[in-house]
Amino acid sequence: MTQGTGGETASALDRQLYEALCHSGAVQQAILKALPDLVFRIRRDGTYIDFHGPSGFAPYVPPPDFVGKKVSQIMPPPVAQEAMEAIERAFQTGDLQIFEYELLQGGEPRQYQARLVVCGQDEVLCVVRDATRQNHARQALTESNQTLQALIQAAPLAIIALDLGGKVRMWNPAAERMFGYSEAEVLGRLPPIIPPERQEIFARMQARVLEKGETIPAEEGRPVRKDGTSLYATVYLAPLRNAAGQIIGSMGMVEDITERRQMREELRALTQRLLAAQDDERRSLSRELHDGLSQSLAMLAEDVEALLAEPPGAQQVKDRLLSFQQRVDSMAGEVRRMAHRLHPSILDHLGLEPALRSYCAEWARREGVELKFTARNLPEKLPLDVASCLYRVVQESLHNISRHAQSGKASVAVVGGGGAMRLVVKDYGVGFEPDAIRGARLGLISMRERVRHVNGVFNIESRPGHGAVIEARIPLVEEQKQDATKSAAGR
Ligand SMILES: Nc1ncnc2c1ncn2[C@@H]1O[C@H](COP(=O)(O)OP(=O)(O)OP(=O)(O)O)[C@@H](O)[C@H]1O
Ligand SMILES: [Mg+2]
Repeated sequence: MTQGTGGETASALDRQLYEALCHSGAVQQAILKALPDLVFRIRRDGTYIDFHGPSGFAPYVPPPDFVGKKVSQIMPPPVAQEAMEAIERAFQTGDLQIFEYELLQGGEPRQYQARLVVCGQDEVLCVVRDATRQNHARQALTESNQTLQALIQAAPLAIIALDLGGKVRMWNPAAERMFGYSEAEVLGRLPPIIPPERQEIFARMQARVLEKGETIPAEEGRPVRKDGTSLYATVYLAPLRNAAGQIIGSMGMVEDITERRQMREELRALTQRLLAAQDDERRSLSRELHDGLSQSLAMLAEDVEALLAEPPGAQQVKDRLLSFQQRVDSMAGEVRRMAHRLHPSILDHLGLEPALRSYCAEWARREGVELKFTARNLPEKLPLDVASCLYRVVQESLHNISRHAQSGKASVAVVGGGGAMRLVVKDYGVGFEPDAIRGARLGLISMRERVRHVNGVFNIESRPGHGAVIEARIPLVEEQKQDATKSAAGR
């Protein structure tokens, strides 16, 4: 229950209403008609004397059922008690009494506000307003405020509100994390994150927001942290308005894009490295074709010409032809090696296991490393993209072992089963810190990307001094398993 305060105007109005009820003059009738409230005359003992209600406004019980009866006979006991206490207090104090209550109507709770004022010797005038909708609106507003607060607290973006003078009014937890200043340190101060050389630009942005009400969508900036380091950020700025729509400050959102920029730069360097590697490979193949194969062919052509020009004896022809045969064989071998470098055709013709076995044997012989190769449970037909991915991962891993690991021993195991293929390449060499690898390195990234491309999972485990384990697990989906036409047999 709320005791009436400043009730003079209200009492005056309520008295006027009483007049309107008592003397049904045209003006009073009009006032009553315009009133959105229920108006009751009630005797001091709680008897309802009279009632007025706007059209469409249903009282708790119809008037014929309560006029002449007492409040305690009509209202639920707690409400009746509150009403009687308010009536009594109105007589004792002479002040306007206000109290709120709730009634169940049609199964729905409805909230009311009653305003009560003494009228004459033995009567009060009671004006009742349905406050349900207003309460709902207030509740909805509170909820949406709470949602907004939760959003500001949990947002990954720094959200900063500034007043008209540019001083901080709000600084969310993300801003604390991003810049290292607590809210208490910056409240009421100009934000200490704008470096001196950007102050003017920021002031201009502020002016556009505060004076013209503009919203600044995304401006790149270099704000400074408390420790003096700076970050790359995107700043969004919008006017902050009060209920009347007047601009009372600005609201800024800051997104830290340092990592994204770094990744973009790394990606750019990587792309350049990839293009350079592609160029190098083409240059080296072209050199081999030009300096090796094409020179050998030219010399062979010259020798054949010489043989034709000066026909020698039968034995000499035989010797020369034997030498030609050897040279042609060696050239054919060279062409095969080059073709293999471009694409391991053995994979298409013989399948993954023989291709890997032959590659591993050749690598172990060339590098002088003891290499254990295991292949188990490989499916009859393996999709070409999976086979080719596994082959390339083995190639790249062994390449890394020869370049970096300094390991005398290594192993390659490729195992099928459980609807997937699993590959493990292990060495016992110097090891490395996988998370510390930076810069434009292609080997590990290309392995990871190849595996990801066939929906697999790629993992590296290594520590300095403890060797390295490269693992790939590739699922074999149903259509891949059944795709016989494109498959490279695991034969
Ligand atoms: N088996 C390994 N043993 C020790 N260090 C390794 C091994 N594999 C990779 N590394 C480390 O990881 C780094 C990245 O390897 P990655 O294959 O991505 O690049 P790279 O071999 O240096 O160059 P490339 O782009 O020619 O492959 C290597 O430089 C090396 O330091
Ligand atoms: Mg490498």
